[in-house]
Amino acid sequence: MENSFRLDNKVALVTGASRGIGRSISQVLAEAGAQVIMVSRKEGLLKELEREIASKGGKAFPKAADVASEEEMGFVFKWVEEEFGKLHLLVNNAGISPHYRLFHQTDEKDWDEMLAVNLRGVFHNCYLAFPLLKAAGDSSIVNVSSIGGIIGLPKVAVYTATKGALTTFTKALATEWAPFGIRVNALCPGFIETDMTSGIAGNQRLKEETLYRIPMKRFGRPEEVAYATLFMASPAASYMTGHCMVIDGGWTAW
Ligand SMILES: NC(=O)c1ccc[n+]([C@@H]2O[C@H](COP(=O)([O-])OP(=O)(O)OC[C@H]3O[C@@H](n4cnc5c(N)ncnc54)[C@H](OP(=O)(O)O)[C@@H]3O)[C@@H](O)[C@H]2O)c1
Repeated sequence: MENSFRLDNKVALVTGASRGIGRSISQVLAEAGAQVIMVSRKEGLLKELEREIASKGGKAFPKAADVASEEEMGFVFKWVEEEFGKLHLLVNNAGISPHYRLFHQTDEKDWDEMLAVNLRGVFHNCYLAFPLLKAAGDSSIVNVSSIGGIIGLPKVAVYTATKGALTTFTKALATEWAPFGIRVNALCPGFIETDMTSGIAGNQRLKEETLYRIPMKRFGRPEEVAYATLFMASPAASYMTGHCMVIDGGWTAW
């Protein structure tokens, strides 16, 4: 029973690991025994996290790279191949939502910027990870989507377009890669307190408007997404693929 939630000696790669949800996912996976390759653009924060994980007996490897760059991610996956020869878990968590404004106030630059990180980055990573996930035999991908990937959210239309695509991409890939022993799932968090949402959490009116939608009357914490990631990646979820798990305090329940 307790081993069903362990990832001892498994190799995991987490994007967007320096802050927020990805930081928490990296900590929880390392605690569960995984060797965690942590990717984001800010090397200093990754090294700090590496030290923190090591102080608790875990193993983590910081790799500074931009997920929007196929070249930079190519170097990361090459390193994984040389170092481990396989990958058991890919967590596509890096994402951006830089604007909170009406669709007609956005422009093509916003569209290109968000697609490059939230979608094209995932595309590269899945493509590059495929031989390594296949080599591991019993492996999985967890894509961090959003409730914006299943319902419409005002003032983040372009962001929701990327997350909606990510949710259906997850399901399509699950059907294609099941024969290779690769499960592909997604998480759809609601409002989680991180740098990404600090603009809303720090504005009393927007905070109240948002809390009105949430039956649990509080925002989520990064570790509440991280534990769901661990479940999806662990042997406990061995028959789960093509699933999008909602973690939103009840936001989408009504
Ligand atoms: N917070 C929420 O309420 C919420 C809800 C639903 C879904 N999500 C999703 O959860 C994921 C994490 O969000 P968060 O709230 O933790 O955001 P966050 O606090 O802003 O952190 C974003 C992470 O992504 C990394 N990142 C951003 N652009 C990158 C790039 N081009 N290449 C590599 N790394 C990049 C950042 O690191 P660097 O700056 O070091 O590169 C950082 O580690 C995102 O996909 C987001 O859409 C969040």
